[in-house]
Amino acid sequence: MHYSGNMKKVLLTGGLGYIGSHVAVELIKQGHDIVIIDDLSNSEYTVLGRLSELTGTEIYFELGDVRDIDFLKGVFQRYEIENVIHLAAKKAVGESVNKPLHYYDINVSGLINLLKVLEDHQAKKFVFSSSCTVYGQPEFLPVTESTPFGDTPSPYGKTKQMCEQILGSVAKVARYEVVSLRYFNPVGAHHSSKIGELPKGVPNNLVPFITQTGAGLRDQLKVFGGDYDTPDGTAIRDYIHVVDLASAHVKALKVDLGPYTALNLGTGRGYSVLEVIKAFEEVADMKLNYSIVDRRVGDLPEIYGDPSMAYKKLRWKAELGLTDMMRDAWKWQQGLAK
Ligand code: UD1
Repeated sequence: MHYSGNMKKVLLTGGLGYIGSHVAVELIKQGHDIVIIDDLSNSEYTVLGRLSELTGTEIYFELGDVRDIDFLKGVFQRYEIENVIHLAAKKAVGESVNKPLHYYDINVSGLINLLKVLEDHQAKKFVFSSSCTVYGQPEFLPVTESTPFGDTPSPYGKTKQMCEQILGSVAKVARYEVVSLRYFNPVGAHHSSKIGELPKGVPNNLVPFITQTGAGLRDQLKVFGGDYDTPDGTAIRDYIHVVDLASAHVKALKVDLGPYTALNLGTGRGYSVLEVIKAFEEVADMKLNYSIVDRRVGDLPEIYGDPSMAYKKLRWKAELGLTDMMRDAWKWQQGLAK
């Protein structure tokens, strides 16, 4: 076990969450020393132990909320932070409609707090977890980084747009570089099955709902909408393996990019809900119980991204395909049952 108290660190907010835990592993694999902040609102403390097991490394952890600026100041006093990867945020589209202030508070005020604290410290890079939701329903596909922000009806989507706008302004005067990574649909789990998604309650997202249905925890998957103008009538998304997504964060720290850069992180390929189900059925060797129901309010018919800018700037591209995503998601789900 290595313990390097003097090394400059990467501050990873939301580092015990689904995406954060995978980013933590990739950072450590590439030799970074990290400090994780998490408030455990949508994550489990046991993930910290799993991360240590997986990486053979002591990980600094600070329990706290990004809305608490004194907490953040304390963290920056205790550690020498060289880079920040900011993932701590709320992400449930439907919930954001019912609790808009909660979303603006955590996602927007949390970001502002962090940026305020950074004003008094030296940092090289600030990496922000954005989303393809900033594009709304685009006119042309695939979306590129120059596709304009579209109408995104949920407060969740609006917070991602606002955060990017704030970061764009701040980057003009900041000493550090800012990178917004626009995630498409992250799915799957670490191949070790030690970390993965831990949805609280009934999952909102497709893949955990599929795996929980496969495991018998849910009776039936509802496919939201079979009458979209797509080849099989179901909605299309650009699913990306969470480990691929995580590795892009590490690359974003390495490369000099200039004051502000936004990058799409997807595979560039869209799959329909029925194609995802089929991929699951193949890897799990079972028939999934599903039925096609009405569209979910606020869902887009189709979105997928052009990831070539991320390759150009970071030499990053997704390596894993839909079968890998579903295999690892299923392996993870089966491990949870044990
Ligand atoms: C949305 C947001 C994304 C956000 C994510 C987190 C957009 C474009 N994307 O992704 O930014 O990070 O939520 O929650 O706003 N589906 C079913 N049955 C289910 C669940 C989902 O058919 O039980 C379908 C959906 O209708 C959709 C696809 O599966 O077509 C993917 O849905 P989901 O996994 O919830 O992600 P998005 O809504 O695309």
